[in-house]
Amino acid sequence: MSIEQLLPRYSNLDRGGMLKRVLTYFADLEDAAQRYKDTRLEREIPDPLHGVIVTGMGGSFIGALFLQDLLYDSWRTPILALREITLPAFADKRHLLVAVSYSGNTEETIRVLVEARRRGIPVVAVTSGGLMAELAEKLSYQLVRLPSGLAPRAAFPYMVTALAAILDALDPSLRLVDSIKRSSLNLAQCGSDMQRHALELADWMLNNYGANRLPIIYAYRPYLSAGYRFKTQINENAKLHAFFSEIPESNHNEIMGWESPSNLFTVVIRAEEPPHMLHRMEFLLDLWSKRGIPYREVKPLGGSRLEKLLSLFFTLDLTSVLLALKRDVDPTPVETISQLKKYLDSRINIRSSLDL
Ligand code: PA5
Repeated sequence: MSIEQLLPRYSNLDRGGMLKRVLTYFADLEDAAQRYKDTRLEREIPDPLHGVIVTGMGGSFIGALFLQDLLYDSWRTPILALREITLPAFADKRHLLVAVSYSGNTEETIRVLVEARRRGIPVVAVTSGGLMAELAEKLSYQLVRLPSGLAPRAAFPYMVTALAAILDALDPSLRLVDSIKRSSLNLAQCGSDMQRHALELADWMLNNYGANRLPIIYAYRPYLSAGYRFKTQINENAKLHAFFSEIPESNHNEIMGWESPSNLFTVVIRAEEPPHMLHRMEFLLDLWSKRGIPYREVKPLGGSRLEKLLSLFFTLDLTSVLLALKRDVDPTPVETISQLKKYLDSRINIRSSLDL
């Protein structure tokens, strides 16, 4: 059964329309490319630029990791993907800070932005509104506006394209926004293959969860963002535990855990494997087979690295939404995250605690 045929079945359950939203991924990317293609930096940028610090939490963090993967071995300016409440000591006015918060009200991101101001670091704010938009206006920071009314994680196509546009403005030779547009058009053609893959993967994962197993998602550079995104999308959309682990680092510690019985299954992202990675994968797959650990390999579609990353994001986001719906769970609300934010609001008045 195709996903389009499934839409009416889930219309009552999927009140926030997350399934429909994911299905507009490539259209959203094209729309975002149109929206942000003429972005220019309005303030003076440090020259030489020592690095771009992209700060954000959760759904507003992942775009930074995506661009770090994309440019890992081709762009010489360091990108620091920051998900902290404080800035590291080395961050100074030779850096650019890009603060991303979909709602504009995330305490961690606001505090980092305010600290950047204290250190004289130039700031670009990426948000749909909230306190961050107010601060950007008050402090005369450039504001790149996101469309409102989405769940933060569903705004990924807009956030990643906005970030790409900021990097293009720093270095026009990157041409990231153009590439995003082209890649989305190409990938939209293979939508049904990715949908089929997502349906199969969601069913397989559902069976494993049903057998009381929990997944570890494995990925390696330059696909770490896709693996980590999958873990977080399972958490937020399906309201399930999932763990993420990096190869090769986990081969030096976590791998020992397979010596003991466990209730785990694994999903491993595989693409563009040089021999050193291929042999590591062969070893792991063989180990899991011998230990009776269920595993699935996920491979991207597309030619360029950008297409591969985008195809993985689409397929795995869709898988997480299907996993939710197949469990009778509404993917959109994140009640416990909202409760925590409310609790923190009641304890810390971020507005009045800002020393502006
Ligand atoms: O997807 C989500 O809802 C969360 O992961 C949020 O992105 C996270 O809590 C941070 O909020 P915001 O994106 O509004 O800064």
